[in-house]
Amino acid sequence: MSDALREPLVDTFGRAHRDLRVSVTDRCNLRCTYCMPADFAAWLPGDHLLSVDELVEVVDVAVERGITSVRLTGGEPTLRPDIATIVERIATLSRSPRISLTTNGLRLVDLAEPLAAAGLERVNISLDTMDAERFARLTFRDRHADVLAGIEAAIAAGLRPVKVNAVLMRGVNDDEAVPLLRHAIAHGWQLRFIEQMPLDPSGVWSRAQMVTAEEILTLLSSAFDLVPADGRGSAPAEEFVVDGGPATVGIVGSVTRPFCAACDRLRLTADGQLLNCLFSRDETDVRAILRDPALSGSERRARIVDALALSVTSKRAGHGIDDPTFIHPTRPMSAIGG
Ligand code: 5AD
Ligand code: SF4
Repeated sequence: MSDALREPLVDTFGRAHRDLRVSVTDRCNLRCTYCMPADFAAWLPGDHLLSVDELVEVVDVAVERGITSVRLTGGEPTLRPDIATIVERIATLSRSPRISLTTNGLRLVDLAEPLAAAGLERVNISLDTMDAERFARLTFRDRHADVLAGIEAAIAAGLRPVKVNAVLMRGVNDDEAVPLLRHAIAHGWQLRFIEQMPLDPSGVWSRAQMVTAEEILTLLSSAFDLVPADGRGSAPAEEFVVDGGPATVGIVGSVTRPFCAACDRLRLTADGQLLNCLFSRDETDVRAILRDPALSGSERRARIVDALALSVTSKRAGHGIDDPTFIHPTRPMSAIGG
């Protein structure tokens, strides 16, 4: 048996970690209100961002320790000029993981083909509204048509199934649950609604204001017949078959129906910090290891294994959003990675 199989990334609650989310930049070409302030300027310093070689080395070590799926995120990952190289380098590792990408879709018209050719398997695209003016208000950029074109480009490039993520906000776009699903079904998108999590920059999130999974189900049930599909596994979305199928819709109740008990995720930020949860405030520094000139290649790999193990074994049972002592993460969502 290989070393890797003897020491997979299992935490103190018995959860084996299979999924690594790699943020490749904190930059974004949108300013979604629930993610980033419109005038955000506190970008990570450029020299803190991991190079392709550095992040691929972390992925390589993680894959040896049982990671089987890598999701590239941001900020907006397609803003990294070397994104196709990153995909290709990960896809050609000796034990290559499945590779997916979370994106706002703006650059997919140009990039869907080259990314697919580089080894990208799937994309998740964020879109909260079918109304162009509303989109501009929600993201501070008039780019709705570009997202729609990006989704079509992803489908055409074979990055299927294309999953589209929508966050409903009360009084903002909660009238769009039904129209969004209608459009998604008509265009072959796999739609998922995500409960808004307390990651907003202004800190105005409140549980009372949040549109819950239960409410989303009720809204959709007014127009569709929904039947739970079986087999959720470690996937956060609860899937429902719509009107007898084959279309489905996912609902991610991160707050009211947390899936922490089955969580198999670990995160690497663009500046080389491991996070064991979106809401974790403890970071494990791998950038310092990657840049320590005193380490030989094998010493460096051993230290990366230690860092992965430390991050995983210090993971808590759950995100604790409901705990009165819950504290917002210090990084904006754009610097954590979705
Ligand atoms: N709550 C829920 N989802 C969020 N996203 C960004 N911020 C939040 C939040 N506060 C989503 C985006 C995208 C993914 C990266 O995470 O809509 O789909
Ligand atoms: Fe950019 Fe995604 Fe944040 Fe929107 S949610 S500002 S698309 S990183």
